[in-house]
Amino acid sequence: MARDTSYTVDASRLHGVLDQPLFVAAAKVAERMGVKAYTIGGYVRDLLLGKPCKDIDIVCEADGIAYAQAVAQELNAGHVHVFKNFGTAMFMLGDVQVEFVGARKESYSRNSRKPEVVPGTIRDDQERRDFTINALAIPLNAEDRGQLVDPFYGVHDLERGIIRTPLAPDITFSDDPLRMLRAIRFATQLGFFIDAPTFEAIQRNAERLDIISAERIHTELNKIIGAPVPSIGFKLLLDSGLLVRFFPEMVDLLGAEEKFGIGHKDNFYHTIQVLDNVAKHSDDLWLRWAAVLHDIAKPRTKRFEQGRGWTFHGHEDKGARMVPGIFRRMKLPLDEQMRFVKKLVALHLRPIALTKEEVTDSAVRRLLFDAGDDIDALMILCKADITSKNEARKKRYLANYELVLEKLKEVEEKDRVRNFQPPITGEDIMGAFNIPPCKAIGDIKTVIKDAILDGRIHNDRAAAWPLMLEEGKKLGLTVVNGMEGPGSSS
Ligand code: CTP
Repeated sequence: MARDTSYTVDASRLHGVLDQPLFVAAAKVAERMGVKAYTIGGYVRDLLLGKPCKDIDIVCEADGIAYAQAVAQELNAGHVHVFKNFGTAMFMLGDVQVEFVGARKESYSRNSRKPEVVPGTIRDDQERRDFTINALAIPLNAEDRGQLVDPFYGVHDLERGIIRTPLAPDITFSDDPLRMLRAIRFATQLGFFIDAPTFEAIQRNAERLDIISAERIHTELNKIIGAPVPSIGFKLLLDSGLLVRFFPEMVDLLGAEEKFGIGHKDNFYHTIQVLDNVAKHSDDLWLRWAAVLHDIAKPRTKRFEQGRGWTFHGHEDKGARMVPGIFRRMKLPLDEQMRFVKKLVALHLRPIALTKEEVTDSAVRRLLFDAGDDIDALMILCKADITSKNEARKKRYLANYELVLEKLKEVEEKDRVRNFQPPITGEDIMGAFNIPPCKAIGDIKTVIKDAILDGRIHNDRAAAWPLMLEEGKKLGLTVVNGMEGPGSSS
């Protein structure tokens, strides 16, 4: 696993940070109230790594809500949102979200996320955080201002690229099992290693993920999918035993069966490679999801056919039909994002299938028609899907892919079918034959669409009008108004 070397730890990045108005005000209020306050967690981690961060967490050894309100008043900040049950408060400062909490001893009770609020020291608070790299605190009060408090060697772990829990990992994970997924998420985003005892504890406690809500799980999963090299996360999810808890269809892709000396590729590793390939070209989360799901129905469609070897007939359609169920279970959006993923899964073989035969204009036109504005995304997925280890084959596929790409451009310029609008409307047909809405209208429109996509007529009204009249007559309709009206010429 490659470390993401774009991040280096540099303590000098802490210099001057406490001079910003928020921390000056927070320190002033802390002195006045006689409490100790610290900035802590992801903000400090990202500061040391030189990563931008728009969430600032502040902990005080007192009532976090009262302290937050006093700091907000000092800054003339806007509304303070209070979460009484969690003992936290939050306000916005420009586009920065500032969250306050009182240091606590205990965190969550075993079977729910309900925190038990028992006041504690900064050390207690650090101890009950998820990872050493997230438990770094910077004091705001004058006496030790800016002197990093790092009882669990978080800086050392940041420098070495290690994810490790502050307490024994079984305790940290039983406080909040989502942290097992967070460990993998941070390892993926930062290219860090998960310390062996921490990883073994994840393997041991994997089934405790079952008490976590689908929303919290998909939030972390989306961050893994959105990372620069998402395959790192999927391998860890698989090896840790977490993946099967919430995404068994993906685990089913694992394995390469062999019969009579004929094997097929391991579709799990193929899928995550396709995902990495897509990630190099697009940050679009839903295109990345399409990569995750493009072959999801392969296990359910796998056959061994005499003379042909392994086949996965119809896996693209079956896969597309599986998408809504998977999205629903994971509580992912069921609107146009889901429909986009479904469409890409359904179409993912189409561009490359074209290359198996002669690439005709009409086949390209049909592809453009079906993909519409998603054609560019589809082509990214399609190219990413070329993962053959056979270099000669890979080269041939890539050359064919380029040919399809060129043809797409050519046909689109010539025929503009990407967002096809029928040149003849239903109203045109009703007017020409003086008929009410009926099936014949749809039939005539299909004939016109097919004629355009097949290249038999131009994509315009002048060419489509006579065909409409001809088709109507074939269906036994009488022409009442044969003149081409102004209509919706495209
Ligand atoms: N935290 C924790 N256990 C969790 C979630 C959060 O201990 N299950 C603590 C960590 O100290 C973390 C801090 O709360 O740094 C803030 O959490 P969050 O905002 O969720 O994550 P960040 O670490 O800030 O990372 P990111 O912004 O990338 O989500």
